[in-house]
Amino acid sequence: MKVLVIGSGGRCHAIVEALSRSPKASKIYAAPGNAGIASLAECVAIKDTDVEALVEFAKNNGVELTVVGPEASLAAGVVDRFREEGLKIFGPTKAAAEIEASKDFAKRLMVKYDVPTAAYATFSDFDEALAYVKKGSLPTVLKYDGLAAGKGVVIATTMEEAESTLRDMLLDTRFGKGSVVIEEFLTGEEFSLMCFVAGNKIYAMPVAQDHKRAYDNDEGPNTGGMGAYTELPFITKEDHDYAMANIMQRVADAMVAEGTPFTGVLYGGLMKTPQGIKVIEFNARFGDPETEVVLPRLKSDAVDVFMAVANNEAPEAEWSEEATLGIVLASKGYPGDYAKGFAIKGCERVESKVYHMGTALKDGELVTAGGRVMIVVASAPTLREAQMKAREDIAKIECSNLFHRTDIGNKAFK
Ligand code: AMP
Ligand code: GLY
Repeated sequence: MKVLVIGSGGRCHAIVEALSRSPKASKIYAAPGNAGIASLAECVAIKDTDVEALVEFAKNNGVELTVVGPEASLAAGVVDRFREEGLKIFGPTKAAAEIEASKDFAKRLMVKYDVPTAAYATFSDFDEALAYVKKGSLPTVLKYDGLAAGKGVVIATTMEEAESTLRDMLLDTRFGKGSVVIEEFLTGEEFSLMCFVAGNKIYAMPVAQDHKRAYDNDEGPNTGGMGAYTELPFITKEDHDYAMANIMQRVADAMVAEGTPFTGVLYGGLMKTPQGIKVIEFNARFGDPETEVVLPRLKSDAVDVFMAVANNEAPEAEWSEEATLGIVLASKGYPGDYAKGFAIKGCERVESKVYHMGTALKDGELVTAGGRVMIVVASAPTLREAQMKAREDIAKIECSNLFHRTDIGNKAFK
């Protein structure tokens, strides 16, 4: 079977790698892919949002299954167009992907169907938003409503910061014209519960934890994710059952009831608060970097799993018992400005998996080409061992312009 994976980052590399383990995938294409993915798939130079070119490519090359990585492709309506053409595709329609694209949509759905989440209000008027914040307590959570690549959330600890953020989001239209969701500030351990969803049928993948802040001890700015691991000792079976029944299943059912059934991966960004598990956000796709630590544990045939979901069936999947831990190497300066083009050496000495996030080949040499550059993912019987292995392996990679967090996974040992 010929398979196309849309995307170019570490998540896409992990999806391609899972597919490459399937004897059923005779040929894998990645659009546009990256320098690492190129060792497993044929990379084709089509942008992940160029829907018509993707449709054309799939048709002309006999692609039998397409798997979508990024949210931008979903928002561009890639699933809708593929389905119109009778092409099999794994991912939600544009209408179903609203659960990620619009924070207000997600919030309204959760309130309507009694899914536990932080209290909130939505504003498009600056004065009204400011008056609401002044009535409430600090810190307060301000979320720009729209896709903002994780950078549209500000946790304001002072009234001055809240005011200037609202000004940015509602008056200066730095993010484009939109509205702001203002939320109650929650505390607790965050975790990611990704489920394969086919209408009202849901199937959970191993739970993972992302590390969103740039520096150790969760300091510094929010990023696209600096590392992740699976096997979270603080999430009990009761927690998992509760989240599946009261959050994931309820949302899958709600999407069906609303006439926008979900197909693909529903990602629950959840928090275990003193008042129980609550939703921080939903994503309509595989999480990044969670996918890079979850899919290496998939023992079942990835083609079967993705195809089942694309056919609106619940997949059956087996997972290895091992723990996984991934550490991201990022360009110095990220998530702010950073330089590119620095040589990367030593990857061949790494025993763990290496997924490329932002690399390129320059005159045959691997160089940095993005903010997050690669993720090293180790598997081991225990999380401690996985952490040790990932640390040993990351030390083998030589590059003068990379940094990484040294505390990935430590929250599991507290
Ligand atoms: P989001 O893009 O909605 O996932 O928000 C990014 C990060 O902001 C989350 O991973 C949390 O760490 C934090 N955050 C978002 N909403 C809240 C909230 N209501 N209370 C506390 N922290 C939050
Ligand atoms: N790990 C967070 C995300 O994928 O949005």
